[in-house]
Amino acid sequence: MENTIYSMPRIGDIAPDFEVMTTTGMLKFSEYAHNSWTILFSHPADFTPVCTTEMTGFALEKDFFKAHETKLIGLSIDSIHAHIAWVNNVREKTGVLFEFPIIADIDMSVAKKYGMLQPGESETAAVRAVFFIDPAFKIRLIMYYPLNVGRNMDEIKRALLALQTSDANKCAMPLDWRPGDKVIVPAPKTVDALQERLKSNLEMVDFYLAKRSLD
Ligand code: BEZ
Repeated sequence: MENTIYSMPRIGDIAPDFEVMTTTGMLKFSEYAHNSWTILFSHPADFTPVCTTEMTGFALEKDFFKAHETKLIGLSIDSIHAHIAWVNNVREKTGVLFEFPIIADIDMSVAKKYGMLQPGESETAAVRAVFFIDPAFKIRLIMYYPLNVGRNMDEIKRALLALQTSDANKCAMPLDWRPGDKVIVPAPKTVDALQERLKSNLEMVDFYLAKRSLD
């Protein structure tokens, strides 16, 4: 069997732009995301259980994302009518409102641009993708999950903080980094810098693996 190949955006690419109908009205992505961190995430289908838990998870973290200057935008290959009915149903049943826009990608054009349509998994539903896009509209981190496994909100939040902290402090984040943990300082680039590094009081395995506190 032949696999259909759709383009896959890569880390470091400028985010593909689009203009679409969403649950908050028509929207041009580059305008919505302008000068802000943005998380674009897809779900396979409205009125399905795993998707409902995930969308509820994003909605409940509204204050966290606002505090970290990050906009949310969802997507599925469903009609705007299905989206509206689902949003309303979840609000009625649970009291949780999905306030962020949800894209009605009925012609699959956005899903194809973002590699969310992975035909080996499903020909008609988007996989569970998460794109972290920075204020320069550059894709910085991508997650793809299959239809039958929900994402991890702690990891989504941790990854966002790791990206933002790395940018702000010109450092890298070690395995399992969490806010408050030490960060990795860039390796020295000259022989003199190496000598300085070896004399420093950084926590050091060797010159190429040294950590510091941020406070
Ligand atoms: C779900 O969200 O529960 C789901 C959606 C599509 C396929 C499988 C599960």
